[in-house]
Amino acid sequence: MPTTAILGLQWGDEGKGKLVDSLSAQQDFCVRFQGGGNAGHTVYPPGGKIVLHHLPTGVLHKDCINVMAQGMVADPFKLLDEINEVEVRGFKLAGRLKISDRCAVTTPMHLSLDAGREDGGSATKVGTTQRGIGPTYADRYDRIGVRMADLLDGTTLREALSRAVSVRACQMSVEPNVDAMLKPLREAGDKLRPYICDTALLLAEAMKEERRILFEGAQGAMLDVCQGTYPYVTSSHTTAAGIAAGSGLLLAPQDVIGVSKAYCTRVGDGPFPTELADAMGEKLRQKGGEFGATTGRPRRCGWIDLFALRYVCKISGVTRIAITKLDVLSAMGELNVGVGYKGWKEPGLPADIRQFTALQPEYKTLPGWDEDISKIRSLGELPATARSYLRFVEEYVGVPIGIISVGPEREASFFSEGAPKA
Ligand code: GDP
Ligand code: IMO
Ligand code: MG
Repeated sequence: MPTTAILGLQWGDEGKGKLVDSLSAQQDFCVRFQGGGNAGHTVYPPGGKIVLHHLPTGVLHKDCINVMAQGMVADPFKLLDEINEVEVRGFKLAGRLKISDRCAVTTPMHLSLDAGREDGGSATKVGTTQRGIGPTYADRYDRIGVRMADLLDGTTLREALSRAVSVRACQMSVEPNVDAMLKPLREAGDKLRPYICDTALLLAEAMKEERRILFEGAQGAMLDVCQGTYPYVTSSHTTAAGIAAGSGLLLAPQDVIGVSKAYCTRVGDGPFPTELADAMGEKLRQKGGEFGATTGRPRRCGWIDLFALRYVCKISGVTRIAITKLDVLSAMGELNVGVGYKGWKEPGLPADIRQFTALQPEYKTLPGWDEDISKIRSLGELPATARSYLRFVEEYVGVPIGIISVGPEREASFFSEGAPKA
């Protein structure tokens, strides 16, 4: 059965949205299974740029059914704004957007908790997107969360909010007011009602009928709540392991496409061994337009870290790599690629954040290329040094590069080994 996943392999913003957009024209379903409004997936459909936060990128293809599965968190007000924005652009969602009745709901209380923690100084700060993600997931697992289904009934919603408030109030300077939250959330529930359903059941039926399903990851493997640079991570499972629980089904996609930039970026706090805090880092930021799609923050930039990439490819069972933003590396002179860390002999990455922070990269220096490659549409047309750069990545990581992206536009990518199987 043709199931595909597109997952970030770094610290997010690898260009997942662009690739999902290119591939979802041939899909029956596009499924987000984790994260929420912290994601910012930039796409260029006809008519110009759209940044999607909650909605699966398949909304831009009229025959694709889009599922926000139960592993997601959603801010109902921001979600309604996003639905409106997409519909105004002509992408009608009636019958094509399915929101799990079990999605965790971000309330104003979660936004305050996220902001409060971020304001608490370096001891508590993670550099979050301040979209309430951590507190919303925490409440789910503490069994005091509000779920999408709760928004549809006033009594259930009041009970759910009261439960959360009674546990959380002691952590907040101003006690959240259930009555003040109730009415707007209920109104949002009524507007979202046509989209809310049991998406696990829907996907189970779709699998049985052998429909083509694409799972769209948000964030990246290095931000995974267990596997990443904890505690400087997001609060969901961003590796392939998150797909099953996040969609409520036992499944492992046949084709796991891992997305990596040809270099590396990170936004927010936490270690980044191959970071360039120099003129080259600034050059990458300017040339790559490396500013957050959700918060506008400048992204930290550095060389690609092949050791980390090899590790996360193993964990997620990546079948092919998509390399994005190769065009940004044109005319940058010689290029470094991280091939390990000084004195680090283990096969994996350290779980201890102090050890991780102390990692010093070891580089292999490869020749660069000067040509503008943004109009190139096949592997053979790339300069020989660009091809050998890709070959080095592929051989080091041990996973084939299946897709190469050389620009933000839909058509600016090509397969390096023929058309995809799906
Ligand atoms: P996502 O969160 O993984 O979907 O990625 P973002 O949208 O946050 O960030 C990726 C940025 O790079 C966006 O501005 C894209 O339009 C842009 N982009 C994607 N692929 C390419 C590429 O191959 N070349 C260039 N120059 N830009 C790209
Ligand atoms: P996409 O899907 C890049 C980062 C934040 C912060 C950490 C925790 O566009 O790749 P959170 O708000 O999730 O509690 O923040 O995770 N982060 C992202 N960085 N791209 C994203 O999403 C991100 N989503 C969260 O900057 O460091
Ligand atoms: Mg992004």
